[in-house]
Amino acid sequence: MPDALAGKRIVLAGGAGGLGRVTAERLAAEGAELVVSFRTRKPESSPGTLVQAELETAGDRARLLDAAPGLYGLVVFTGVPARAATPDQLEQAMRDSFESNYLGPILLAREAADRMRADGTPGAIVLFSTMQAGALFPGSTAYAGAKASLAHAARILAKELRGPANIRVNVVSPGVTAAGMAEASIASGKYDRFLKDGMVPRFGRAADVARAVRFFLEPDNYVTGQVLTVDGGLTL
Ligand SMILES: NC(=O)c1ccc[n+]([C@@H]2O[C@H](COP(=O)([O-])OP(=O)(O)OC[C@H]3O[C@@H](n4cnc5c(N)ncnc54)[C@H](OP(=O)(O)O)[C@@H]3O)[C@@H](O)[C@H]2O)c1
Repeated sequence: MPDALAGKRIVLAGGAGGLGRVTAERLAAEGAELVVSFRTRKPESSPGTLVQAELETAGDRARLLDAAPGLYGLVVFTGVPARAATPDQLEQAMRDSFESNYLGPILLAREAADRMRADGTPGAIVLFSTMQAGALFPGSTAYAGAKASLAHAARILAKELRGPANIRVNVVSPGVTAAGMAEASIASGKYDRFLKDGMVPRFGRAADVARAVRFFLEPDNYVTGQVLTVDGGLTL
């Protein structure tokens, strides 16, 4: 259904980032009415209304949702890589990770669902985890631990919101994608062995991820409580 999203109001939290920007362009080309948020890095232009919001802050979440009356969809791209260069940075990285990768996205999803339910219209929520939430990468306790929690909480939310409310909640879990937070690591050669060892045919593209988001946003989609891993086979 090429025009299924035309006129649908969709909030893309963190949609100013690498994966969000490409997804926003795709959805806008289909006629969706977008509200796009950033935290610190304001983009020069955007295919939707731009809102500054830090998701851990209740007032910011409310302001973001206020900008999208009649909300149909929410996609939460926000997240941080939570890298700890030295062991003494680990505790802070874990705190930052749970704030940005778990607490903010889950609270926003709940509050968006409350508004959808109050409007009495079906809706679609898409959250972002990572393939590292399932595969075991040494050194990723801060990042992947919070992202695994998010995927689990998303499935709980999906169960709470199924049935008459018809608000679907799903998760996209990208692999190494040449955009946003992985761009510099790819450029540094950190992941070249994935190609050399034949684990993936190529690095992911933001468009691969946008296609998965689009699938979950489809209004007559019958899928909820699922995690779609978009990693070219890396998890395997
Ligand atoms: N790129 C990949 O290869 C990859 C792989 C696996 C999973 N992912 C996941 O995919 C999602 C999008 O990643 P990306 O590569 O597009 O990252 P990105 O370019 O860094 O974009 C992240 C966006 O989230 C915002 N943000 C971060 N923490 C926030 C907070 N606490 N409150 C509000 N906004 C916040 C950032 O805002 P500011 O920049 O303005 O601070 C930015 O707009 C993330 O959840 C990431 O974990 C990405």
